[in-house]
Amino acid sequence: MTFVNKVVLVTGASSGIGAATAIEFSKEGAHVVMVGRNEEKIGKVATKCTRVGLKPLVVIADVSKDDDAKRIMKETIEKHGKLDILVNNAGFGRPGCLLDGSVVEAYDQIFDTNVRAVIYLSTLATPYLIQRKGNIVNVSSAAAKTTPWAADSLAYFVSKAAVDQFTRGAALELAPYGIRVNAVNPGPVNTDYLKNAEINAKFEEFSVMTALNRISQPEEIANMIAYLAGEKAVGITGSTFVVDNGMLLKVN
Ligand SMILES: NC(=O)c1ccc[n+]([C@@H]2O[C@H](COP(=O)([O-])OP(=O)(O)OC[C@H]3O[C@@H](n4cnc5c(N)ncnc54)[C@H](OP(=O)(O)O)[C@@H]3O)[C@@H](O)[C@H]2O)c1
Repeated sequence: MTFVNKVVLVTGASSGIGAATAIEFSKEGAHVVMVGRNEEKIGKVATKCTRVGLKPLVVIADVSKDDDAKRIMKETIEKHGKLDILVNNAGFGRPGCLLDGSVVEAYDQIFDTNVRAVIYLSTLATPYLIQRKGNIVNVSSAAAKTTPWAADSLAYFVSKAAVDQFTRGAALELAPYGIRVNAVNPGPVNTDYLKNAEINAKFEEFSVMTALNRISQPEEIANMIAYLAGEKAVGITGSTFVVDNGMLLKVN
């Protein structure tokens, strides 16, 4: 087991990629700290974690609220006394257009969670990560690397481009302290993302946009997150890893 004695904080662990990531780290022996807002959903994932590993610490919190972010870190340190890995996964999309002005509201909401919370939680985590020579994995998106292909989702595309740049900048600043910072950039993954973004489509419809003509399951992304967080990735920092079934080969 790769992550025995490691404390791993996963935001957005109640669903999709974050849930699969919490389960994967649990299987690998980690002390997992799970963050999300939906108590019922996160409880079910926590039960799955406990079946395969140690009982996780569940923190019900909204990462976009500074007081909640502070509480997430406080409860983590109170319980475990250390933090080895931060997985900034919580995120969502929302339509918003220039023509009717709705892009501004979408930008504010999306950036608070997808970008500002990533930056703030990383700030709060840094002193502890320095002590452990830990690392950060951000969940970005293939959307950071393509021309925006959905005109009404502009704010989401911009937010993930910001996550990629934050990943590189944070990696540069923290490298002298032995902290690595990387990102995973998924293409379409079968999660609750579309439902939560109120997008009336099914993930299967996105398979035609990929070279491999398939969409990913959340576990595939969790595997890449765990690889980047682990010792085998000792030489990897400031990288943004695309896991997209070849979507960028067809859409760019
Ligand atoms: N699915 C895809 O195709 C895809 C592709 C590329 C990138 N991504 C990225 O992958 C990440 C995970 O998304 P997913 O696909 O797994 O979607 P999901 O199933 O909708 O999960 C999103 C998670 O984020 C949490 N979350 C959202 N806002 C939050 C907030 N303010 N505070 C705390 N938790 C919050 C949700 O928890 P609660 O509802 O419990 O708060 C949920 O656990 C996101 O950053 C997304 O942008 C997804």
